[in-house]
Amino acid sequence: MQTRRPPSSPAPRVGAGAGTVYSTQLPLPGRRQGKVRDLYQLEPDREGPRLLVVATDRVSAFDVVMPSGIPGKGRMLTAMSAAWFGLLRSRGIVRDHVLSLEVPDIGIPDAVRACLEGRVMVCRAASVVPIECVARGYLAGSGWAEYRERGTVCGMPLPAGLRECDRLPEPIFSPATKADVGHDENISFDRACELVGGPLMERLRDLTLRIYRVAADHAASRGLLLADTKFEFGHALGPDGAPSDGLMLVDEVLTPDSSRYWPAEEYAPGRDQPSFDKQFLRNYLLGLVSKGLWRKEPPGPLLPAQVVEGTRARYLEALDRLFPGTPLPGT
Ligand SMILES: Nc1ncnc2c1ncn2[C@@H]1O[C@H](COP(=O)(O)OP(=O)(O)O)[C@@H](O)[C@H]1O
Ligand SMILES: [Mg+2]
Repeated sequence: MQTRRPPSSPAPRVGAGAGTVYSTQLPLPGRRQGKVRDLYQLEPDREGPRLLVVATDRVSAFDVVMPSGIPGKGRMLTAMSAAWFGLLRSRGIVRDHVLSLEVPDIGIPDAVRACLEGRVMVCRAASVVPIECVARGYLAGSGWAEYRERGTVCGMPLPAGLRECDRLPEPIFSPATKADVGHDENISFDRACELVGGPLMERLRDLTLRIYRVAADHAASRGLLLADTKFEFGHALGPDGAPSDGLMLVDEVLTPDSSRYWPAEEYAPGRDQPSFDKQFLRNYLLGLVSKGLWRKEPPGPLLPAQVVEGTRARYLEALDRLFPGTPLPGT
């Protein structure tokens, strides 16, 4: 295990030795694959079914998974999610799905185990609420796009005259559908209530905004603005495999894949902000699109080394700034 250096020193080459983990095939049932994570079923414990969630080094942009991975990205995401889950747990806002960060005993060779170290979470399996719970403190991305067109975000009217990336009068909850295929779509709060029920949505809105405020405060104390972020919630599956009443925060939390972080010292509304998310990668891809070399459809293009390295460096800097000294096991 390597101890992280302070942010002022040159970034260590995370994952360079261990290589890139692009995809996994573990001897476990129920394999499912998301854009970034591979999920497997583990033996249930007394409380119910458990999942093994493996964060790979895959990266997606415009909902297309790139054929090149970002070495060590899965470890950085797992370390950052774990640190945030820990901080949120200490505030006692809501239960979460994390059971352990240790690689479980699943009869795999040591070399495979070493690849998994630092990129797994053993989680309580949930029936995931099919709504992306987005909190926005600033006007960016799809929120800015809707506001520019109609003066609203998720159908909610906002004051006139806001500029790109302006701070909102107060953080807002802007739900989106969780599409199995294709792009997520912003929806109104009322539409979300129709889909999954009013009392549940009110609870999710309250939790989302509470967690956002805690996280934005922590980020601000570390010189970062948390412009927006997305959470997923689910009902824990019980011993009978059926969803229980127990609402949990699931998935990843507050990583650069699910959140926009801006360096506070460079913040200036009225333009796009430099950010620690995939904007660097997106900008490269938009260059290809404008030259007619890619159409935002699969397959994605192979990424040049400097794009891979630049993306990796930004993820690492986000982790270093938010949680300095966080160890990255397995590197
Ligand atoms: N505790 C849980 N139980 C069941 N599913 C979960 C749990 N936590 C996360 N998930 C799901 O696992 C998947 C995570 O993989 P990811 O690669 O991030 O997927 P996506 O392409 O949907 O972003 C998501 O579909 C998420 O909803
Ligand atoms: Mg995801």
